[in-house]
Amino acid sequence: MSDDPLPTPSPNPASDRTTARTAAVIPAAGRGVRLGPGAPKALRTLGGTPMLVHAVRAMADSRAVSLVVVVAPPDGAAEVKSLLDTHALPERTDVLVVPGGESRQESVKLGLDALPPGYDIVLVHDAARPLVPVDTVDAVIEAVRDGAPAVVPVLPLSDTVKQVEPAAAPGGPEPVVATPDRSLLRAVQTPQGFDRATLEHAHATVTGNVTDDAGMVEQLGTTVVAVPGHEEAFKVTRPLDLVLAEAVLARRRLNDGF
Ligand code: C5P
Repeated sequence: MSDDPLPTPSPNPASDRTTARTAAVIPAAGRGVRLGPGAPKALRTLGGTPMLVHAVRAMADSRAVSLVVVVAPPDGAAEVKSLLDTHALPERTDVLVVPGGESRQESVKLGLDALPPGYDIVLVHDAARPLVPVDTVDAVIEAVRDGAPAVVPVLPLSDTVKQVEPAAAPGGPEPVVATPDRSLLRAVQTPQGFDRATLEHAHATVTGNVTDDAGMVEQLGTTVVAVPGHEEAFKVTRPLDLVLAEAVLARRRLNDGF
């Protein structure tokens, strides 16, 4: 038998995360130009309630989430704050409102900067995905608690995807250069979930145009894992998405009525 001392166990961040507190950052500072003229997208109503309020409630519905940081349009933080004050949220949930920035990335960073200590798991959720079910939110948190530094909810694609090159002339036909294997592609939703230190490191070091937070973490060389998303977590981007969102809400109300 060896007299060597037992090796020091390496720290297991996953076990620390089983009890970690979770905060959600909601970037809501976009104008939503693709939706047509009108109020900033997050303030448009669905079923009579602003999209942002639906999104905040979707995060607060998870019992694990005790703080929601809303990143408001830079000139609209006071308006967003009073809007949220007039809509009921669970008592266990604190809400902070901070002004956002020029890009989504900048807005998320400003939200992260406002996070108090003591929250070691962070969700980032688009205000533009107001109807994500709580089971999806909980599945993302669970995967972070189980040890993943970064988690994205995803869906398989129904459309085949083509990679194209820019057209020779604006508006002209675009040459197709590749057809990636659809079975290996996924459409990515939010909330994306992170070990807080990993996400903060990504936002402090990664620059350039990225469309989601997990993409920044990937650039650090850190593993990102995917869990099943939900069709009701779709992003409200174009006018037809509003029609679909109203239909989903109407169906929920009907189901709740019975
Ligand atoms: O533009 P896109 O649909 O990707 O926006 C996703 C989310 O990022 C939306 O909830 C939008 O309000 C938010 N956003 C932001 N700050 C910006 C641009 C977008 O918070 N400057």
